[in-house]
Amino acid sequence: MSSCTIYRELWYSLASSLVHNEKIFLHQQMAPSFDNGNSLFEFVVQDGNGVKGLVDLGLEKVPERYIQPQHERIDKLDKCSNELLPPIDLSKLDGPSHDQVVEAIAGAAQMVGFFQVVNHGVPVELLESLKDAAHRFFGQPAEKKAVYLKGVSPSPLVKYGTSFVPEKEKALEWKDYVSMVYTNDTDALEHWPIECKEVALEYLKTSTKMVRRITEILIANLGVTLEDSSKVVDALTSLKMVNMNFYPTCPSPELTVGVGRHSDMGTLTVLLQDGIGGLYVKLEGKPDAEEEWMEIQPIPGALVINIGDTLQILSNGRYKSAEHRVRTTSTQSRVSIPIFTVPRPTEKIGPLPQLVERDGVAHYRDFIFQEYMNNFFGKAHEGKKSLDFAQSSSA
Ligand code: OGA
Ligand code: NI
Repeated sequence: MSSCTIYRELWYSLASSLVHNEKIFLHQQMAPSFDNGNSLFEFVVQDGNGVKGLVDLGLEKVPERYIQPQHERIDKLDKCSNELLPPIDLSKLDGPSHDQVVEAIAGAAQMVGFFQVVNHGVPVELLESLKDAAHRFFGQPAEKKAVYLKGVSPSPLVKYGTSFVPEKEKALEWKDYVSMVYTNDTDALEHWPIECKEVALEYLKTSTKMVRRITEILIANLGVTLEDSSKVVDALTSLKMVNMNFYPTCPSPELTVGVGRHSDMGTLTVLLQDGIGGLYVKLEGKPDAEEEWMEIQPIPGALVINIGDTLQILSNGRYKSAEHRVRTTSTQSRVSIPIFTVPRPTEKIGPLPQLVERDGVAHYRDFIFQEYMNNFFGKAHEGKKSLDFAQSSSA
C-alpha cells in the first residue's frame, strides 16, 4: 500500500469519526435526560409530545418517571398461552351450533372475562385501515395532536393524551391515546380527527350489532325474566367511545408498562389489536402471591371482547370483568383500537334483583353510573379496585 493511500485512509477514518462524534454530540444534545421530573411532565403531558415525542428524541434510557415498581413489571415469559380459548365464530349463532356458541360466550364471560371472536360483522379490510389510521394519527407532529389536549380541544367529544391519569400516577404508562365519544354520525364527522374519523365511525357502526347480540346473550343466560330485556340491553349499551392507543417502542420493556393493571368500567369492550401482542389477562382464583396471567395472542381478523365492571355488577358477580394490562416492546410500536360500550351517565346500575334474591346476597350496591365514572377516572389504574366503589356494605 503506498503511503499516499495510507494517508488517505487515515484521513477518511479521522474525518468519519469526527462526523460520527458530532452526530453523537448532537444526539446527546437533542435527547435531554429529563432527570428533572417536572420538565419531563411538561414535555410529555402538558405540551402534548406524548411518549411518542420522547422516543423520537432518540432516548436510549427509560426516564425515571416511567419505571414501574418491581411487582408491576411484566415478565414476558411468565404467562400461560390462550390456546384453551379458541376464537368464537359468531356466524355460527345463526346455524345448528347456536347453543354451543352461546355456551362458549357465556362460559368465557364467567371464567375469564375475555374471548376473541371471528365473523363478527366488521369487515376485515376495515381492521387494516383502522390500524393504518392509528399510525397516521400518531405519526403526525406533536402540535397537530396537541390541539386535542384536555382543556384546549375544540370539541368535548375528542381528547388526546398520554398515560391514564398522569397527575395521579407515580409511574406513567408508556402509551399515548386519542378518544372519540360517539353522539351521532354528524357530530362524529364534524368533530373527530380527520385522519381517522371515517374508519373509526365505520368500525363503531359495523360492530354495534355484534355488541348488542353478545350483551343480549349474556343477559338471557342469567336466567332471569325481565319485563323488557331489550330495554335493559339499550340501557347498558347506550354510550360508545372509540379509542386509539399507541404504544411506542420502548428501550427497556421490562421496566415499563403500556397500560397498568385495570378492568374496564363499562358493559363490553371490543378491542382490535395489531400483530405485536402483549395484552395480558389475569386469571382469577389464585392467591395474589401466585397470580397467573394469560396472553391474548393476536389472531388475524379477530376482535377481542371483554366484560366490564358494569356487567360484573349487574350479574351479581357471575361475569368477570377481568384485570388486564399491556406490555411494551423494543422492536415495533403497537396500536390497539378499543370501543368502550357503557351505560348513560344517568343510568341506575346495580345487581339484577332476581339474582340477588336467588343468591341471597347483593354483592354490589346500586349507584348512578356517573358516580362510578367519576371514581374510575379520578384515580390511577389499580387492578380491580374500581369495583370497590360498588361494594355492598352487607356483602
Ligand atoms: C384499554 C386496554 C388493551 C390493549 O384501553 O382499556 O386495556 O391491548 N387496552 O391496548
Ligand atoms: Ni382495558
